Amino acid sequence: MTREELIKNFEEKMGKGGEILTFFAPGRVNLIGEHTDYNGGHVFPCALTIGTYGAIRKRDDDLMRFFSLNFPHRGVLKSSIRDIVNTKEAGWSNYPRGVVWAMSERGMVPECGFDMLIYGNIPNGSGLSSSASVELLTGVALRGLFGFSVDNQELALIGQYSENHFNGVNCGIMDQFAIAMGKKDHAIFLDTATLQYTYAPLKLEGARIVIASSNKKRGLGDSKYNERRSECEAALAMIQKEKNVPSLGALTPEEFEEVSSLITDPVMRKRARHAVLENARTVEAVKALENGDVAAFGKLMNESHISLRDDYEVTGRELDTLVESAWKQEGVLGSRMTGAGFGGCTVSIVREDAIDAFIRNVGEEYVSAIGYAADFYVVDIGDGAGEF
Ligand code: GLA
Repeated sequence: MTREELIKNFEEKMGKGGEILTFFAPGRVNLIGEHTDYNGGHVFPCALTIGTYGAIRKRDDDLMRFFSLNFPHRGVLKSSIRDIVNTKEAGWSNYPRGVVWAMSERGMVPECGFDMLIYGNIPNGSGLSSSASVELLTGVALRGLFGFSVDNQELALIGQYSENHFNGVNCGIMDQFAIAMGKKDHAIFLDTATLQYTYAPLKLEGARIVIASSNKKRGLGDSKYNERRSECEAALAMIQKEKNVPSLGALTPEEFEEVSSLITDPVMRKRARHAVLENARTVEAVKALENGDVAAFGKLMNESHISLRDDYEVTGRELDTLVESAWKQEGVLGSRMTGAGFGGCTVSIVREDAIDAFIRNVGEEYVSAIGYAADFYVVDIGDGAGEF
């Protein structure tokens, strides 16, 4: 989508005239560090070059009007900028509306209504954070339109707050942070306990990132995401009865071994073990990449998947089929599920000359096991949300 096309679409749906501003927010893929971000651990995501485009213009009343080129049948969704509450009728616009609400809570109240049109090329429900992308798009668009003084990191927290308190998903900070703070050709090594981060150049030595979408649809809100989070919190609370530990992410694997018997429920113990070991793997993986050891990085990705499959139990047949098939292919350095799980995508690091065969072989195996096709994307790493 070019800027001209975006503006043309905006004028068609919303009418001509006035000053129209344009913005872009990427999707994200997480390379390693899954289900660690709400446990005070590390994550290692990057922003993609696919994402959500948006055009916005002020109105002279108090209405917000939204149109998505991805959901044209929903038409123009209208509501007031005052007294914003989540409603079923608002459909997808609850994501941008939640951000308007969260910004207003922090004193960034729009002085008037606005029209906003969006178009996303992240496959919906694929686990590449299309909803966080819409949240950050709204954040940068409102900042641009109304001149609010707020930086991208703060907008990430606002996006998360709106997702938690307006849209009812208890997500961590990873998605919004990656989308807000992404940097071309770099992954972000983020400590979610402190929000300290560094950028790591993604030198994959002749390999590329390939995403496979299982096409199994899932909604985070109605999935078991919130349940996993509660299980980790309950496990931590059992440890805290005896030991002063701020989060599961603060424990080394050795320290966890010493306290794990305090977690009396075996299922919760497995969940906590994943959170602790996945955090340790993430730290190790980033070191491996720094040392140019892409093979070691890939091996840790594989271990991450096994832990998500066996201890955290968030993979399912579709993601396991994609990953286990990927492991058998020539030129695959590592493969794992990415994002919340329960459907969505896998991420693989594949040698450039092996990509065609990878897509063909994994694709065929997937159709014959699952009965419908997966989609494959060879992706590039881009910058965080901003003007377009
Ligand atoms: C979703 C959430 C993130 C994170 C991942 C799992 O993408 O939005 O905060 O918890 O799942 O790592």
